[in-house]
Amino acid sequence: MLDIRLSHASAGPSVDGMDTTPQKIAFLGLGSMGLPMARRLLDAGHLLTLWNRTASKADALVADGAVRAATPAEAVRDADVVVTMLADPAAALAVADEMVPALRPGTQWIDTSTVGPDTVAALAARLPAGVTLIDAPVMGSVDRAATGELMILAGGDTAPVAAVLDRLGTVTPCGGPGAGAALKLVLINAAIGGVALVAEALTLAGALGLPRELALRTLGAGPLAGAVGRATATGSYFPVALAAKDVALATSSAKLPVLEAVHGLLTADPALLAEDLAVVAR
Ligand SMILES: NC(=O)c1ccc[n+]([C@@H]2O[C@H](COP(=O)([O-])OP(=O)(O)OC[C@H]3O[C@@H](n4cnc5c(N)ncnc54)[C@H](OP(=O)(O)O)[C@@H]3O)[C@@H](O)[C@H]2O)c1
Repeated sequence: MLDIRLSHASAGPSVDGMDTTPQKIAFLGLGSMGLPMARRLLDAGHLLTLWNRTASKADALVADGAVRAATPAEAVRDADVVVTMLADPAAALAVADEMVPALRPGTQWIDTSTVGPDTVAALAARLPAGVTLIDAPVMGSVDRAATGELMILAGGDTAPVAAVLDRLGTVTPCGGPGAGAALKLVLINAAIGGVALVAEALTLAGALGLPRELALRTLGAGPLAGAVGRATATGSYFPVALAAKDVALATSSAKLPVLEAVHGLLTADPALLAEDLAVVAR
């Protein structure tokens, strides 16, 4: 690992204009999404310090050269860039309270968690002078996190962290702070609602005596094609519990009776909460 870092230490802007200079990155939140994202940053030669509530999830990356921090504050103390990928608003706020006092001026903090614009505003309100927060939640699941093909919905100026974000996926600039978090709620709720609708269409097809395969194939040739693709995906792991969290964030922002019904569907069976969202269509 030392060799990799030394070989990148003298790197600078490459001929294609992408800055490959290694940065000191603190990555907090090594769940299903955070772990493959952190792996991509380590493999790019960045100097990576990790913190996760369950410390053992960092073991494989530490074995490959990342540094384990005992606390969120220790993780971010020397960072140029902080990346967080945490479950929900409660987790993001709890980790922020621990790490924010240790952020130094000039640090760029990228929050990739799906927490909604209200929480982004609450995080921003905690920032010390000279620290910038970029909301950058992502579309795409664990498969695209591993290959660096996430759709990154960014609120704020991403130019100073382009080298980090480009390693994780493709940035869609959404506007000022909070705009990425807002668009993420729009896109993920449309996707979840689409999967729920496919599930009901399949239930109707079954009640009418139609083969499931015929219904899926013809639905997939129409306007719900993307939702059918997600409802039958095998490489994704977006647990029903996280989907329900995202629907709740949406229904607390606007009157959305269809999504309120979808929330009821998602939370009806506790045994399904840890399953991928595609379970609702099975
Ligand atoms: N999975 C997907 O397909 C997908 C796709 C796009 C966006 N997202 C979003 O990305 C975020 C992370 O998703 P994920 O699938 O990686 O979830 P996950 O596997 O459940 O990981 C959640 C992370 O948050 C940490 N965490 C939870 N509660 C915490 C607390 N109170 N204090 C400190 N840390 C806490 C967990 O720590 P432990 O390891 O200790 O539990 C873990 O590191 C979510 O906002 C999700 O909606 C997920």
